[in-house]
Amino acid sequence: MKIVVTGSRGMLGSVLAARLITAGHAVLPIDLPERDLLDFPAVAAYLHAQRPDFIYNCAAFTNVDLCETEEAKARAVNALVPGQLADLAAELDIPVLQISTDYVFSGSGIRPYLPEDLPAPLSAYGRTKAEGEALAQKAPRHFIVRTAWLYGHNGKNFVETIIALAKTKPELKIVDDQRGAPTFVDDLVESLLLFLECSEYGIYHFTNSGETTWCGFAKEFLRLTGSGVRVLPCATAEFPRPARRPAYSVLDLDKTRSMLKIKIPDWPDAVARYCKGRR
Ligand SMILES: NC(=O)c1ccc[n+]([C@@H]2O[C@H](COP(=O)([O-])OP(=O)(O)OC[C@H]3O[C@@H](n4cnc5c(N)ncnc54)[C@H](OP(=O)(O)O)[C@@H]3O)[C@@H](O)[C@H]2O)c1
Repeated sequence: MKIVVTGSRGMLGSVLAARLITAGHAVLPIDLPERDLLDFPAVAAYLHAQRPDFIYNCAAFTNVDLCETEEAKARAVNALVPGQLADLAAELDIPVLQISTDYVFSGSGIRPYLPEDLPAPLSAYGRTKAEGEALAQKAPRHFIVRTAWLYGHNGKNFVETIIALAKTKPELKIVDDQRGAPTFVDDLVESLLLFLECSEYGIYHFTNSGETTWCGFAKEFLRLTGSGVRVLPCATAEFPRPARRPAYSVLDLDKTRSMLKIKIPDWPDAVARYCKGRR
């Protein structure tokens, strides 16, 4: 198949593009600086000429705190572009898969969020991604895949930030009152490939299984990498940030398991594989 991957230089898009090529597909990569999704007429002309079979939209304005002060730009990338890609997918009569986030939810829930639960974002990032979900649904054949707490071998992420910090300090305070599920990009990518053969359109969730806090997650990968740093659990309130984060954003995975017929690796298993493969 001929497959569009937007955000093809990003943490997720780069791994997805490489994996699709390994699987024998042709990839049309779209990322800055060569191709700017905000110049959508140029992108549309290119894709009309190329006639792809499937679109993965992994491009996004992902700096959650910066979105608070640059909401107009965040909205252009995270909301309006998914709408334009949905229209294009409709014109080309192909499916489009929009990557979304647990941050569309408020985090006041007491059970894992279901795909059909209504978004109620707390931040500008969450608002723009939720609008992007709504606009992506203009495509008759759309998938929306919400994920969370991503880390992978190709990009800045929490795991590498904390491992680097641990080398410079005897102890680290890490937030212990936000619960979610860390997600290894490689595992997400394997599930994304399965949507090429799926015709049950709609909203899905993919994270690694289980749940923890940022502190619980950090303790595990610091242990695995042999760090001697002392980890001190702390409250979100001790680290005020511009954007509010959901306190509880575990995503229910049952629909994904049953529709894609997959077992989803637990987060400790995933982070152990990640640590083994670190360069
Ligand atoms: N990271 C997480 O923890 C997380 C959690 C849940 C959901 N997600 C979602 O997962 C997806 C992938 O995230 P990621 O972590 O891989 O993000 P990322 O590393 O920031 O990658 C996004 C890519 O999109 C590109 N991009 C931004 N604006 C563009 C434009 N106007 N035209 C073309 N390309 C543009 C970025 O380029 P520049 O770097 O040059 O701007 C970057 O290469 C996003 O939809 C994100 O919302 C991420």
